[in-house]
Amino acid sequence: MAADIERVRELETEAFGFTWDQETFLKELTRPNGATVVARSAEGVVGSALLVWAAGEVQLNSIVLDPAVRGRGLSRPFLGTMMRWLQEEQFDWFTLEVKWRNEPAHRLYRHFGFVTTACRPRYYSDGQDARIMWAGHLQSPHFRRLLGGEDLPEETLRRVG
Ligand SMILES: CC(C)(COP(=O)(O)OP(=O)(O)OC[C@H]1O[C@@H](n2cnc3c(N)ncnc32)[C@H](O)[C@@H]1OP(=O)(O)O)[C@@H](O)C(=O)NCCC(=O)NCCS
Repeated sequence: MAADIERVRELETEAFGFTWDQETFLKELTRPNGATVVARSAEGVVGSALLVWAAGEVQLNSIVLDPAVRGRGLSRPFLGTMMRWLQEEQFDWFTLEVKWRNEPAHRLYRHFGFVTTACRPRYYSDGQDARIMWAGHLQSPHFRRLLGGEDLPEETLRRVG
């Protein structure tokens, strides 16, 4: 939905200081190997995430919550629900990169079993290093237990497009 894309662009701009233009987002929606996901509350879209996958591996390109709802523990059910989808789609490996000192994001990813596998020095424009993280064995009983009960109600989370 075009209105959702505008909101995703707002959330990304607030969080990262930049985003793709509308046309690039619309192209992204037709990508067969990716998804743009939004989380809704009664007030509207309060979160977004961009996923892309290839050869059985998924990359989380971004996850953002509206600053107004941060710090309430919502990121766990948001990411947890997406990871459940990926598990159901038989993906086994999940990767991302994040600023080294982004503590809320790092704690979130660690909760879901991501480990730091590499550092890209001074990768970001503010000079921060990038932490490359991977979670593997999404199909294992351990991950199934970890992801149990992390779902958001179905109507609150959906793919755009
Ligand atoms: C990353 C993000 C989605 C996390 O959501 P959030 O609402 O801030 O975090 P939550 O309340 O769900 O908490 C997640 C963890 O971070 C911790 N945390 C929350 N706010 C924190 C803060 N200001 N400082 C340190 N830790 C914090 C929580 O205690 C929790 O850790 P725990 O599970 O070990 O207790 C959100 O901060 C955000 O949108 N940030 C901007 C975009 C971004 O940086 N995205 C990640 C890179 S793509």
